[in-house]
Amino acid sequence: MKCLAILGAGGHGKVVADTALAVGWDVIHFYDSSWPVREKNSHWPIVGDDQLLIKNLYQYDGVIVAIGDNQVRWQKHLMLIEQGAKLVSLVHPSAQVSIYAKVGIGSVVLANAVINVDADIGDACIINVGATVDHDSHIASAVHICPGANLSGAVCVGEKSWVGIGASVKQDIKIGLEVMIGAGAVVVSDVSDGLVVVGNPAKSIH
Ligand SMILES: CC(C)(COP(=O)(O)OP(=O)(O)OC[C@H]1O[C@@H](n2cnc3c(N)ncnc32)[C@H](O)[C@@H]1OP(=O)(O)O)[C@@H](O)C(=O)NCCC(=O)NCCS
Repeated sequence: MKCLAILGAGGHGKVVADTALAVGWDVIHFYDSSWPVREKNSHWPIVGDDQLLIKNLYQYDGVIVAIGDNQVRWQKHLMLIEQGAKLVSLVHPSAQVSIYAKVGIGSVVLANAVINVDADIGDACIINVGATVDHDSHIASAVHICPGANLSGAVCVGEKSWVGIGASVKQDIKIGLEVMIGAGAVVVSDVSDGLVVVGNPAKSIH
């Protein structure tokens, strides 16, 4: 029996649990700060909080953080590594990941996502449902590529950035650190660190 602990019992956590079942994990336990008030996340039990997870790490064959907020996910991921947790990555069976692509530890590649040849995904990333990351793209750690976003070839995305649902990014574009690309944006020029950009062509609003 392969047992997986998931830290973060929200909607994204449910999708990660469902993905884990699809790739052969047998038992799934959630840990979340809402415990003990909440004891279930849909079909799966919530059995403790962060502190209890640290105590129980030895019971699990793998651990993953399923928190949508990039900053929080990254902090928890690093904390668990420090505690000696066996962080795992998950790739949904319907996702297409080139044998020449890399997916970092603690990352999830959800249903129908595509990661093409020589693309490189960092640690603790979310490549959400139906997103595409084309050849030679480099996605740094703790990035979220939201559902249906499309990145062309050789796009670079900096740490903790967020590419919104349905956004498109032209080839060879560089997106900085902690950038927020709005839903549906069309990015045709480089984006500096910390900016929020929206629209077609995408322009900064903050
Ligand atoms: C870009 C975003 C982060 C901006 O959020 P915000 O800072 O709270 O900005 P506001 O909602 O105050 O909007 C500011 C202005 O930008 C516009 N705007 C916001 N998001 C926009 C978008 N995606 N496309 C076009 N215009 C947008 C608003 O209409 C508003 O315009 P106004 O000043 O003329 O009224 C957010 O709207 C967004 O698109 N988030 C991505 C959501 C997503 O991908 N979810 C997937 C979850 S898996």
